[in-house]
Parts: sequence; C-alpha cells; structure tokens
Amino acid sequence: MSIKTTILGSGAMATACSILLTDHPDQSVTIWARNPEHARNMSEQRENRRLLPGVTIPDAVEITSDLPAALDGADYLIVAIPTEFLRESLEAIAPELKENRPVISVVKGLETGTFQRPSQIIGEILGNRAVVALSGPSHAEEIARRLPASVVAASGDVALARRVQSMFSTDRFRVYTNPDLIGVELAGALKNVIAIAAGICDGLGFGDNAKSALMTRGIVEMSRFGVSQGAESTTFAGLAGIGDLITTCISPFGRNRMVGERLGKGETLDAILGSMEAVAEGVNAARSIYELADNQGIDMPITAEVYAVLFEDKSAVEATTSLMLRPPKM
Ligand code: 13P
Repeated sequence: MSIKTTILGSGAMATACSILLTDHPDQSVTIWARNPEHARNMSEQRENRRLLPGVTIPDAVEITSDLPAALDGADYLIVAIPTEFLRESLEAIAPELKENRPVISVVKGLETGTFQRPSQIIGEILGNRAVVALSGPSHAEEIARRLPASVVAASGDVALARRVQSMFSTDRFRVYTNPDLIGVELAGALKNVIAIAAGICDGLGFGDNAKSALMTRGIVEMSRFGVSQGAESTTFAGLAGIGDLITTCISPFGRNRMVGERLGKGETLDAILGSMEAVAEGVNAARSIYELADNQGIDMPITAEVYAVLFEDKSAVEATTSLMLRPPKM
C-alpha cells in the first residue's frame, strides 16, 4: 500500500525531504506551500529557485497551496517551518488537521520566550500526537543532490522512529534511531549558536586551531545544557550532536556560520538578517538558550559571548578575549 506524506513548509529542507522520499516508489509526497505564488512557481518550474536553486524537483512531487487537498489521505506529516513561524503556522493549519497522523519534525530551534522545543509546540497545538525529530548533519543543498548523508530519527515512540527510518532510508541516506527526543532536538538548536561563534572565527581570520577548540568546547557546553534539561549525554556524541555541529560549523552553505562570519567582518546583525532569504535559527536560539542557562545557572561561556555579540553590541574581538581570559579550568 502506498504511503502518502505531506510536507508542511516550502523551504530548502522541505524540498530536500520531498526528493528523498520520492526515491521510494511506494511513497507519494505532497509539499504544502502557504504562499500560492511560491507553490505555483515551484510546481511549474520544478525547482525551488528562491531557496534551493539548481535542484530539480521530481515530477512525482505534488506541490500545492490548497491545504485540504494536501492533507487528504496523508499518512504522515513533515513539519519543515522555521521555529519563529511554527506556532502561528500550525495554529492556522490545526482546524484542518482532524486525524491523528504522526508528525516528523525537521525543525532545529527553540521558541523565544517559551523555551519550547519544536515537538512541544507541535504537541501543544496539534494535540498529543506522536512526533519524530529527524536531525543530524543534513544540509538540504547536499541531500537534495543525493550526496551520502546520515541522520537520526528520534522519538519516545520507538516503533514510529523505526517506521520513519525505513521511510527515508536509501543507498544515499542512512537513518539511525534514538529514543532521546529531548537530546536530539536540543542538539539541533544548540549547534546553531556554536556555528555562529565558528563563523565569527572565520570572519576574524582565526584559523583552524581556534575553530577546533571552539567546536570541542562547544560540544561540551551543548552536552552540559542538554543533560541539565533531561537529555542523554551520549546523544551529543552522535549524529545530531557532534555530527551536525561539524557540518554546521565548517560548511560554506551554513546559514548560522555565515551570520557569524559577517559579524566577524564587522557587519551589523540587522544588515545581515535583512539580506538573508533563509532563516538562521541560531540568532533566536542564542537568546533562548542564554536566558535559560542564565536563569538556571548553567555554565555556557560560548553561548553567552555569542549572545553579547548579537544583542549587546560587544565586539567579536572582545568576546574572544573574554573567552580566552576566563578563569583557568582543570
Ligand atoms: P546551517 O544552515 O546553519 O548550517 O543549518 C543547517 C543544518 O542544520 C544542517 O544540518
């Protein structure tokens, strides 16, 4: 029997997921784009020219802005909407979502103000349904071109995580499962903040040693934060932790790394964000994680310096000095 998956969102990751799923002939895929013109352009041009140019969307992918048609008969939903728009988008969609279909989230952020993870927002708005987080080193630009990649499907519902594993697995896309949904989601949000710091290193021309040290100490503070919120420390040693941290910190495509690089070169945050088509989740995540860590007394030195550069006008050079001259550690 054919499985139908409906993807909510029409960004680069939504497009890449549609391409991954059409590699399974027994599955059908529909992308729901909120903006009718964007849906029409993608459907006619068979390309997401705005957010994933140069990649052909297979004819088998249906693209529509008609929500009831997109949802009709769907067995699974994929949520691929940036965190800052997630709540309002789901609230608009919720009245149409009567059946309790499982949700796969590819969102990597934390909601400003509420500190909620994507699966918590999904649960709150769509009701208590099973959620799987699909996360790991997975730049849309690469997986859409079928370059080999490996990710993790995380859920408290292990049988569902296994089904998602088999839905996505191909010779070019290897999926592991992990029951630690909290850890996998937090890792996805936390690594974006460290990637901004890595970008700052690049912008200041600091070289490989500085960036390696930053990534190594970055995973330490990511793990410390995660464990304080109920995650397993081993998750941070896996694909969603160190794996995604490496990709996000070194990649030329990295949106969060790019924000940092431009900050390091002296541009203002407003100018950088105003010129970007895609959302760099790390900017809002830095605020949420800094505030939560500060309230709960969790030591997050890199995140604190990224926060100060982003929101308190601290210079990137001064932030570096503050990190280097912290009291000595064992
Ligand atoms: P960046 O664009 O910041 O690298 O984030 C994408 C991502 O999460 C890759 O796994």
